[in-house]
This record gives sequence, structure tokens and C-alpha cells, in this order.
Amino acid sequence: MHHPKFNDFPADFLWGAASAAYQVEGAWDADGKGPSVWDLFTKLPGKTFEGSNGDVAVDHYHRVEEDVALMAEMGLKAYRFSVSWPRIFPTGRGEVNEAGLAFYERLIDSLIAHGIEPVLTLYHWDLPQALQEEYGGWEDRRIIDDFERYCVTLYQRFAGKVKYWVSLNEQNYNLTNAYQLGTHPPAVQDRKRFFAANHIAFLANARVIKAFRQHVPGGLIGPSFAYSPAYPASCDPKDMLAFENAEEFTNLWWLDAYCFGRYPQAALAYLRENGEAPEILAGDLELLREGTPDYIGVNYYYTLTFTDNPIGGQTMQRINTTGQKGTTPSSGVPGLYKTTPNPHLETSNWDWAIDPTGMRIALRRLSSRYGLPLMITENGLGEFDKLTADGRVHDDYRIAYLRSHLKACQEALQDGAELLGYCAWSFTDILSWLNGYQKRYGFVYVERDEQGGSLRRIKKESFHWYKSVIASGGKTL
Ligand code: BG6
Repeated sequence: MHHPKFNDFPADFLWGAASAAYQVEGAWDADGKGPSVWDLFTKLPGKTFEGSNGDVAVDHYHRVEEDVALMAEMGLKAYRFSVSWPRIFPTGRGEVNEAGLAFYERLIDSLIAHGIEPVLTLYHWDLPQALQEEYGGWEDRRIIDDFERYCVTLYQRFAGKVKYWVSLNEQNYNLTNAYQLGTHPPAVQDRKRFFAANHIAFLANARVIKAFRQHVPGGLIGPSFAYSPAYPASCDPKDMLAFENAEEFTNLWWLDAYCFGRYPQAALAYLRENGEAPEILAGDLELLREGTPDYIGVNYYYTLTFTDNPIGGQTMQRINTTGQKGTTPSSGVPGLYKTTPNPHLETSNWDWAIDPTGMRIALRRLSSRYGLPLMITENGLGEFDKLTADGRVHDDYRIAYLRSHLKACQEALQDGAELLGYCAWSFTDILSWLNGYQKRYGFVYVERDEQGGSLRRIKKESFHWYKSVIASGGKTL
């Protein structure tokens, strides 16, 4: 009998890949879909790289069969995708748009027919525009009921078919961009409004997790968190304190709220002192504690290194959206922390530190603090890929990235973490929200740029590599 080694990937490990509705589907107004905030935001001048948008994206909406056939050929065990809320409720609530549900049902049925486990994300940033206009979206508690109605509609329809669910994707990253940096819709820069909207999103997250228990028995649900573990720049106590501040404000603020139903103490005290703390009403924290997740979805791309930042120092800055290496400025909160490059790590062309050990650290920190199962719901490398004259895409740098991160998963298993699966970002090339089509992530190249293209699918070298990894159950990486 074969005794699995402690660090073997489990036999039922979900070898997956991921996407999000706005980034792949296109068909932005097909079959009764209403506009999302991204449909409008991307049309405003200067908001995205060369004005790119998801009107067509990679046309997954019309190419579901072809794309799922490629997943099956690869031997994928799981596919994570998101449902577009305004496809289901064109104005956010009211009458269900059956054609929208039918599209996802076709996708789910086709995945299941090929032995691929669907992992369904309920919200990947494409809020119905109508709710933004009506009451300011995440800034109003009315969204909690509307979001619950939308989620319950999906629970009722897909409970028997979908076991793994993701509630909110990267609430931390999305709302930081939306309400602090002004780089996602509604493009606000106001810390008080940021913490207020973020609190309402926690309540909505907890409410739909609570409802999930009634409607999807045996299912598992959790948010996907954009986790960039914090490092101190040095052992200077000032840097250590900056690191503690950063971990608490940029990570534990979300993780503790999701998993413990409370905010971390020092950060909350600081915000109260500054008049920026969210309004916590009677019953709010009880709701958070009733709606804690079954597992934590982890979107891991890089670690961030922090150093001391005095009062009057570095403020929050926007990220590199051009792919010109070395253009990312330091970003921080005066008096608390600021980022600094990590001299020990290489970076991508977008200045993202390549740090597989950081992923092991991420999984360990989460597993030991919260004692929950984990799933890597995103991990990957965005780069300028080239379709060469031989008709191929030689993305050996992506293979190196993914291989080293899968080894880190193996080490995390050895460390005792319970890891349900690994979804590489992404399956096909996608629209990168702010970076356009030039920042590619997929195993499958899609022939298009900002102007358009044939939308032809071409398997990259990484496609063949991941296929053999899956076939070996992770024994050959
Ligand atoms: C995450 C998102 O932030 O990272 C994805 O959930 C996104 O939707 C991915 O595409 C990579 O980010 P970017 O900015 O390189 O597209």
C-alpha cells in the first residue's frame, strides 16, 4: 500500500484555474444584462490602460464550449469563475433575468460533464450600475438585502451542482482602489467613506454566508482575500512597528473581521482617534460572528516590505499600470508605514515581488491564526507574452513562477496547513482591469490587444506543463 508522504498533494486536491466575469465574458449587454459600474467606468477618459474595456473581453460568453473543451484537454479539476450580478438582476434587484442564469447553468453543466469542479464567485467587482446610482452601492446598508437576494437566487438554482463558493473577491483590494486611491469605480478618495463602505461589505459578506448554510447544505463558502503578507525592512524596532501597523491595517483588518467577527485593536483605536472608524451598530458584530467562513480563499501574488514613515511622510500612491519596470512609487500612511523595495527579491515588469516563500508564509500565518482550511483562489504571473513565428508562446518565466509557488504549497502542507486546492490566475488571457490586454496571465493565449483581434486561442508552453503537473498529481512539478 502506498502511504502518502506528509507533503504529498492530497488525492482530491483541486488543481484549478480562475477567471472573472468582466475580464473574460464580453457580451456586455447581451440577453438582458444590465450595465455594471465597470461598463461605465472604463469608458471615462484616462481610467484604464489605453482606454481598454470588457465590452468584448475574450468573448468567453460566446465561446464557453471551446474554452471548457480546452480545460478538459488540460485535465483541470476545478474552474473558478464569477457570476455577473447585472446578468442575473439587470438593475440589481427586482425580476430575475432567466437568460443570465441559463448562461451560467450551461457553463456549470459543461464543467460537470467534463469532471471539472465549479468554484463559483458571487461578486468580482461588477456591481450593477443601477445600485451605484440609486444609493451609492457599498456605501448604503440597503445593499445587504439586495446582495442577499441575488446570492440566494444563485444558491437556490445551483445548490445541487456547485459545492465550492466564494463570497466577495478581494474586498480589500477592490474597495481600497475604489475609495482610497480612486482607481476603481466610484473613484473616491476619502478614508472615512472607505472604512464605512468596507464595514457594510463585511455585513453583506456575513449575511450571505449565513444564508448559505440554509440553502447549500454540504457546500463550502468563504471570501477570497488579496493577501500580501507584510515584511519588516529590517530589525530596527521602528521598521518592526511599521510592519506590525501594516499587517494590522492592510491584512488583519479584513481577516479578523471575516474569521473572528472583530476588528484588530490597535488599528481600531487609531481610527477612532482620527474620526475614521466605521459606525458599528448594535447587532453588527453578532452578524459577523454568525457569518464566518468555512475556508479562506487566498489570492496571493507578492509580499510587501514596510519601513518607518513619519508624520508628514509618504502618502498612498497608485500602482504601476504600464509594465514599465521600476516605476512603482513608495506608498504609505504617514505615521504608520510605507512600502520599500525588498532587495532580496526579483520583480515582474509591473514591479510585483516574486516571492514563493511569501506564499508559504501566507498559508502558515492564516492556518495557524484562524485554523481554517485554505484554498489558493488566485496565483499567477502577469507578463508581456509574445506569440512567436513558430506559432507558440514560450512562457518559461510563467512556468518557473508557478512551479516555485506550487512547491511553496507543498511546503505549507508539510507545515500542517489544510489546502483544498490551487487555482492559477488565469485560464485564458484576460482583461487586466487597469492594465489592459497587454498584461497576460493565461495558460491559453488569446489573440487580441486594445484594438481587438481574431480572439483565436493558442495553448502556451505553460498549458502543457500544467497539464503534466495535474496528470502526476503534483509529483512532477
Ligand atoms: C486580482 C484580481 O487583484 O489580481 C484579478 O482578483 C486580477 O481580477 C488579478 O486580474 C491580477 O491583477 P492585475 O492588476 O495584474 O490584473
